[in-house]
Amino acid sequence: MNIQLINKKAYDKKNNLTLKFLTEKKLEKAKFKKTLKKSGFNAKQESIATLHGKSLIFCGLADFSDENLRTAAATIAQHIKKYTYKSLSIEVDKESITPIIEGFILGDYEFNNYKSTDKKSKIKDLFLLCDNVKELSKPFEEAVIVAEATCFTRDLVNTPPDDLYPEIMAKIAKKLAKENELKCNILGKKELQKEKCNALLAVGRASRHDSKLIHLTYKPKNAKKIISLVGKGLTYDSGGLSLKPATSMVTMKMDKAGACAVLGIMKAVSELKLDIEVHGFIGAVENMIGGDAYKPDDVLRSRKGDTIEVRNTDAEGRLVLADVLDYAQDKTKPDYLFDFATLTGACMVALGQYTTGVMGHSSKLKHDIGKASRKAGELTATLPFNKHLKKQLKSEIADICNISNKPYGGAITAGLFLDNFIKEENKEKWLHFDIAGSAYTESPWDVNVHGATGAGVRFMTHFLESIK
Ligand code: BES
Ligand code: ZN
Ligand code: ZN
Repeated sequence: MNIQLINKKAYDKKNNLTLKFLTEKKLEKAKFKKTLKKSGFNAKQESIATLHGKSLIFCGLADFSDENLRTAAATIAQHIKKYTYKSLSIEVDKESITPIIEGFILGDYEFNNYKSTDKKSKIKDLFLLCDNVKELSKPFEEAVIVAEATCFTRDLVNTPPDDLYPEIMAKIAKKLAKENELKCNILGKKELQKEKCNALLAVGRASRHDSKLIHLTYKPKNAKKIISLVGKGLTYDSGGLSLKPATSMVTMKMDKAGACAVLGIMKAVSELKLDIEVHGFIGAVENMIGGDAYKPDDVLRSRKGDTIEVRNTDAEGRLVLADVLDYAQDKTKPDYLFDFATLTGACMVALGQYTTGVMGHSSKLKHDIGKASRKAGELTATLPFNKHLKKQLKSEIADICNISNKPYGGAITAGLFLDNFIKEENKEKWLHFDIAGSAYTESPWDVNVHGATGAGVRFMTHFLESIK
């Protein structure tokens, strides 16, 4: 959908559908109250009524909060796909413009790259009508950048594993770097061997696609802070020799969602021209089976030098991240270090499938991320570390084990495994985001349609915008 911000006086409405949001209170004073009520419209959140004779569509709202506006806009974007109007218009102001744009773009999203015929909306234009274009042009542009970066992430996550493997992810990173003036460095098999990224390499060994470590840099002049982002990029997770059951393997193309979120955030940050230096590090690897596969019982020597006893090859994301986190900490001295990963099914058990699990040592940082995510309209919740769970990672033969010896607290023990690879000076700067549940959905919720959600892009971009 093509979105334009225009002055409401200069607007000429031919074959246009006008959208109005109504609360229950506003409905009582509305011009078409009687007709609307006759049609069963009650102005409850997301209820819809269309008066085609008047080219009007009404959408109910519980109140004008960002959250309700965002989801209502997403619902309308889906609903109007069947209509044949040329355009849709809606009045916006300073308060409503951002959630309305995000809701429209995210709710209108479809992944049609593999459909012979698509059901794209006939409505090609969305006109946002306002009193003062100049005043709203900045929030307008910002909201479009963030929403489009989220859709960029969704497209990558949704792409099937035979079309998006580590080499292709590296190509995508290079293309983004070229378009957005980022620096891009790719480490292939040889460079990774030289870097002693043995844990990462072991995970990818049985794949016909070589593993890659991708490093993107956005470095404006006079940057206020340095931020390093790390993403789990398992382009496919079959589980390896600890093979996943058939039904659990379906959707595992989404195990690259952490990496794709990092790419989306790099895109947003560079287009918003934020005055911070941002590094994106991605471990792009495919976890497969075969004669060359790494095994339960193997002991790997990580880049950091610690040995890891492998007891389950399906706990592979933490092995990849151990090496990428170590590499990132050697290459940059960040003020903040964040990693994004579809790391554990246990995170979904703990928080449900809509909420990102936040783990780390700094209460202040966790609090600030909570604030940014509420503003951005993403759900996050903290999962607390403790020393008893840490003991569950003890190995009898190596420095650490890649799985816990008890069946509880799996999201936290995975976070604690990563903590083992965080340098002392970065402990308070680091947070781990488990997006296993929030990154992908098979049924629509909030502004999300079937497939990837782009989890992480909105809340992290909002957090980075708020850095002083
Ligand atoms: N990629 C999975 C985690 C996952 C599961 C993401 C479901 C999204 C949906 C991860 O690599 C994994 O398999 N983790 C194991 C860890 C276990 C072996 C300790 C899990 O969660 O079962
Ligand atoms: Zn796995
Ligand atoms: Zn995985």
